[in-house]
Amino acid sequence: MIKSADIRQQFIDYFKNQHGHKFIPSSPVVPLTDPTLLFTNAGMNQFKPYFLGESKAEFPRAVNSQKCIRVSGKHNDLEEVGRDTYHHTFFEMLGNWSFGDYYKAEAIEWAWKLFTEVWGLDASRLYASVYKDDDEALQLWKKISGLPESRILRFGEKDNFWEMGETGPCGPCSEIHYYRGNDKNQDPGRVNADDADYIELWNLVFIQYNRDENGKLHNLPTKHVDTGAGFERIVATLNNVNSNYETDVFFPLLDKISALSGRDYDSGVAGMPHRVIADHLRMLSFAIADGAIPGNEGRSYVLRRILRRAVRYGRQLELTQPFLHEIVPVLAEQMKGVFPELKQHEQHISNIIKSEEESFSQTLDRGLDIFDKIAGAVHDKKKTIIPGADVFKLYDTFGFPMDLTRLLAEEKGLQIEEKQFEKFMQEQKDRARAAGKFKGVSQEELEWKIIDKNTENNFCGYDKLEAEAQIVKVAVTGEYIYLVFNTTPFYAESGGQVGDKGELIFPDGHAIQIIDTKLIAENRVHIVLKKELKTDDFKERFQLKVKTEDRRNIAGNHSATHLLHRVLKDVLGEQVKQSGSFVNSDYLRFDFNHHTGISELELESIQKKINEKIQNSLPVQIKEMEYKEAVEEGAVALFGEKYSDKVRTVKMGDYSFELCGGTHVSNTSEILYFLIRSESSIASGVRRIEAVTGKKAHEAATGALTLEKNLMSSFQCKKEDLPQRITELKNENATLRKEVEEMEKKILLSDLDRFISSAREINNIKLIAQKVNTTSMDQLKELGDKLREKCTGTVITLAMISKNQPQVLVAVSDDLMKSGYHAGKLVGKIGKALGGGGGGRPHMATAGGKNVEKLDEVLKNIESFLV
Ligand code: SER
Repeated sequence: MIKSADIRQQFIDYFKNQHGHKFIPSSPVVPLTDPTLLFTNAGMNQFKPYFLGESKAEFPRAVNSQKCIRVSGKHNDLEEVGRDTYHHTFFEMLGNWSFGDYYKAEAIEWAWKLFTEVWGLDASRLYASVYKDDDEALQLWKKISGLPESRILRFGEKDNFWEMGETGPCGPCSEIHYYRGNDKNQDPGRVNADDADYIELWNLVFIQYNRDENGKLHNLPTKHVDTGAGFERIVATLNNVNSNYETDVFFPLLDKISALSGRDYDSGVAGMPHRVIADHLRMLSFAIADGAIPGNEGRSYVLRRILRRAVRYGRQLELTQPFLHEIVPVLAEQMKGVFPELKQHEQHISNIIKSEEESFSQTLDRGLDIFDKIAGAVHDKKKTIIPGADVFKLYDTFGFPMDLTRLLAEEKGLQIEEKQFEKFMQEQKDRARAAGKFKGVSQEELEWKIIDKNTENNFCGYDKLEAEAQIVKVAVTGEYIYLVFNTTPFYAESGGQVGDKGELIFPDGHAIQIIDTKLIAENRVHIVLKKELKTDDFKERFQLKVKTEDRRNIAGNHSATHLLHRVLKDVLGEQVKQSGSFVNSDYLRFDFNHHTGISELELESIQKKINEKIQNSLPVQIKEMEYKEAVEEGAVALFGEKYSDKVRTVKMGDYSFELCGGTHVSNTSEILYFLIRSESSIASGVRRIEAVTGKKAHEAATGALTLEKNLMSSFQCKKEDLPQRITELKNENATLRKEVEEMEKKILLSDLDRFISSAREINNIKLIAQKVNTTSMDQLKELGDKLREKCTGTVITLAMISKNQPQVLVAVSDDLMKSGYHAGKLVGKIGKALGGGGGGRPHMATAGGKNVEKLDEVLKNIESFLV
């Protein structure tokens, strides 16, 4: 078997040593500087500025192996992955480039020679394709390769005009395809027809246009070559196998999957789960190594979708525990010579993948059950389309991305109702907006209606997140309904901890959102949107379900405030006392009395100590005690708070001990990590610390790393040089700005005569009315001054446009001023005509307006303002 590493190196060496190309390392798969791209989708991405003529390449020829991801936008192969054996979400693209240097003849000749002479591919199995009217390329192929015309095929835009995205560099292309079947008689009609036997290996693009936002093509100043050869396909082809998975690129991964699942890889249909998992794992690992993380939007959501798809295929191999992260070390080891970033970030990649797997695993099995029921019901009704409401439910409750549901549906020969699904998504967004508007309510605003007299309003949420409950009383005000239940797992906002959010589930299974829970006159009041609950429903028995993930984050943050309180006393002194706190699922805020600022060193030590307590895995003990007894034992009670005789105490190891009614983790290790975001003074003698924990701390750290990477790439410098580089640039910018202003001034002043000679004379008064090319009012004034000095009998009107708004200056020469002309009054009228106003002194005054389109007209008829 020929090793993939050797093949990659042979490609690079061929272009480097025989044809004078410079080797350029792969750019990150998460593009740092191109907002038109979610992921790097071709080798040429990093060279885009050279093609567009925005910057000049320091070398005319380049070669590399680029990490690419194709799961979104113009190039998206996701649906094919795993079904066939040669499309991938992540792959390497071997490429050679000419930046305004060689063109079609060399590109074709070198590709042909590498294939047939260096790698010895059988010419009678090769095909070339050209863009439909690219006769030049066709002739070159004939001459260079000697291929008969029947094997040089013409195709249209779809196959032979390559574009990076909706906009950007593009041009006609020429591809090389290879027949890998066993038929004696080949059929050229099967090239470019999704036939796995006739596989595209290499694409030579002749970049000569740029497509703009309106879809128009513009000729580029110079012509370039951009080629891309599918590395994994070439490895398979040179090894005489028909599947990319049957090469050393994938063997180690498939072996690991087999070892984890106890199922051997099958090269046929049954091998799809192995293939999908191996492919997706590569995509996820490389994307995460380059700074992406799974999440809810944009690029992050693509990662989440891919990960969930892989986890689901794991289920088909009966991998029910998180397993993907265990494959990461295999890939990192395999790639360490070419892409060391995987080894470097191995732990980080594993951690991220594992925590995503864990959170999805919790709902996946139930979701799959529900999906089967839904599909069964569709089938029973002899229908083939899964309703949008069900697709939405799977998304909303079980975290199934739409394309995962579509895939499950397709496996059963069904489709999904996408439009309806989108509608539900929109409605959810609208609901979130309405919920976000909820600002709280007071006891006086609520008129309670009793539904059930005989029940208590009891809280069972310290150890349960779900409970069956009935409504005890109801109040309706504005857009909201306020509900009190006989029992509830929902924590009502108090002690600085926010109220829980979650679901109110009806007996038939449908659910509405509880958008907040407040403590109002001892009642735990749940808030829902009025339009979602009808009066008839009040007597139902509901299931109440708290949002688990939020509650977990809140508990982490709340427990962290206790550690913080204790650590502050250790670091700053026992006199430190809490003066307020706030805890939600995103972050925590802690206010305390302290008379001086806190140094960076102290902050660092606070953060470090808290993380030590987290790592020490202190058990959290909750105990009801007599108030007196608790205080005697050293529990911290809050000043000004009223406590009853029996109190709830929260103790973390032997470290922190407080009276508290909030919800907490059961061991400090569950907080995972504590990161201070800010420290500030909020009043005299009161300081505030804001911090994040757990996943949010992780996200914040990852975000900071990505930002750092972006900055390093934009500023082209090392991390430690960033502050200095930014200061330098700021200074340089200030100097340049000054120079520009000086220069503009010089130009303007040297133009004085032009302004003077532009004067028109009306009724013995000279009128200068000109637009000036500046955005600085100071310059306008200086010019006005100079003109006033030089002119007599003149009214000077100068205008400029700044931020798309007109600004005007009027200056009146001394003699006219004496005879009653007043710049302030004049400019006032002009300002008004421009939709604004202004005024000032008799010799010089300014005005600003809004209607930039009126400016020319006003200047043309300036005399009308004199009367
Ligand atoms: N940019 C072209 C492609 O992606 C050739 O590299 O196919």
